[in-house]
Amino acid sequence: MLAARDRLIVALDVSGAAQACQIVQSIGEAASTYKVGKQLFTAEGPQMVRDLISSGRKVFLDLKFHDIPNTVAGAVQSASALGVSMLTVHALGGSKMLKAAAEAASQSTAKPMVLAVTVLTSLSDADLQELGIASSVATQVLRLGALARNAGCGGLVASALEAAQLRRELGGGFAIVTPGVRPSGAAAEDQARVVTPRDAIAAGTTHLVVGRPILEAADPAKAAEAIMQEIEVAVSTRG
Ligand code: C5P
Repeated sequence: MLAARDRLIVALDVSGAAQACQIVQSIGEAASTYKVGKQLFTAEGPQMVRDLISSGRKVFLDLKFHDIPNTVAGAVQSASALGVSMLTVHALGGSKMLKAAAEAASQSTAKPMVLAVTVLTSLSDADLQELGIASSVATQVLRLGALARNAGCGGLVASALEAAQLRRELGGGFAIVTPGVRPSGAAAEDQARVVTPRDAIAAGTTHLVVGRPILEAADPAKAAEAIMQEIEVAVSTRG
């Protein structure tokens, strides 16, 4: 059973190392896993990731790899060599690419969890039509989720709404990482659909990604602790 502390991932959505370090310092012991995405990684490169890991933090490297299997396997090897705990790939890369990613991760020393992104939440049914995909977003999420799972990926990135459907259809035994989480009573910002930690855990989410409610709080450590408490209560009441 995962500890509440290991379920909270703080999104380091900032432009540079100085800002990132300041946030990590201010959070202190209140969180241990940080998501490094395209903005920070492109600005600061792998040294940022190495520094976080050598300071005892875990890193979720959210670069959403999507390329031919050999190239993605190489990228996963490089990420594993950095020591990241989790990383993302696009399920649309297909099962050969997903298998190559999962194998590269499992053969590495760090053995990061490979998480597949199904359909970007910015895409609607009409956007899929335009891409030549006749399925609805909901159907496509389930199809790609099953594909990623069967290819050996350790989990999926999904909204809480999708999480409930994925759990119903695909069962357990894989992680679901959910962004767009807001502690009870917080502002939604630009997230169209937000859920509380409790709703997300009830839907079958295993890990929560939280950015602005922590980054922009007057006291980020206190905000992270409060979310952790909500997660703990949600997990214990879910049973
Ligand atoms: O600040 P906030 O808590 O909204 O940050 C959520 C994080 O999750 C951001 O890094 C954002 O890019 C990411 N994300 C998201 N919605 C998705 C996928 C990823 O908010 N559908």
